[in-house]
Amino acid sequence: MRQPLIAGNWKMNGSRDSIKTLLDGLKAGIDEVKTAEVAVCAPYVYLADVQSQLSGTPIAWGGQNLSTEEKGAFTGEISASMLLDFGCKFVIVGHSERRSLYGEDDALVARKYAVARTAGLIPILCVGETLEEREKGIMEEVVARQLNAVIDLEGVTALNDGVIAYEPVWAIGTGKTASPEQAQEAHAFIRKLIAEKDASVADKVRIQYGGSMNAGNAAELLAMADIDGGLIGGASLKAEDFLAICKAAG
Ligand code: 13P
Repeated sequence: MRQPLIAGNWKMNGSRDSIKTLLDGLKAGIDEVKTAEVAVCAPYVYLADVQSQLSGTPIAWGGQNLSTEEKGAFTGEISASMLLDFGCKFVIVGHSERRSLYGEDDALVARKYAVARTAGLIPILCVGETLEEREKGIMEEVVARQLNAVIDLEGVTALNDGVIAYEPVWAIGTGKTASPEQAQEAHAFIRKLIAEKDASVADKVRIQYGGSMNAGNAAELLAMADIDGGLIGGASLKAEDFLAICKAAG
């Protein structure tokens, strides 16, 4: 059985005060979450606060990005070892916002995946098509290309050390969730693609859904056979909403 993973992606939101309130709320309710593994991915500058507030709780945390470099003259970058220094378990790689706004291509994302897993972080690899690509009927082609970049660089067994997040770009922050059937179709496609290379990796790898998942639609999405959790943006910023999603898993 794959344990569902519900991870919050706070993106560039929050302040020290609002994060304290959010984490107090999560800590107060986490005991009611029976099945899911729960994590939050915070802006770098708040990782120290998150670490001190979540240490000793069942809630894990992570970064939203990392550098491919270990150290040195890379102004503004953050390395895998720095994330580990603040107790991170996870790191998001290849989020569509990084792909589209910061020019991260498949090759760079694959290198980030490799660096993260080699360092001992669990990379959450985001894949997903834009609206234009979906309308052109090339969702599978796009998702396969994004996933194969990692498999080609690292081998399919590298997926044993990570998590995949299917995030259709048209559903992110738009309030337009993929229907459970649309999401399941994409997740099943991803699992089949991996199974063609290694059935046991495909069986074990967790595939999260992301894109306007909220307290109201989480249960029906999470009930689908190949949806093993969620990567949550907006709804992860309020403890009550995020906890409701965590409880809907499993
Ligand atoms: P929303 O939940 O705000 O649509 O964001 C999803 C996302 O991008 C998570 O990484």
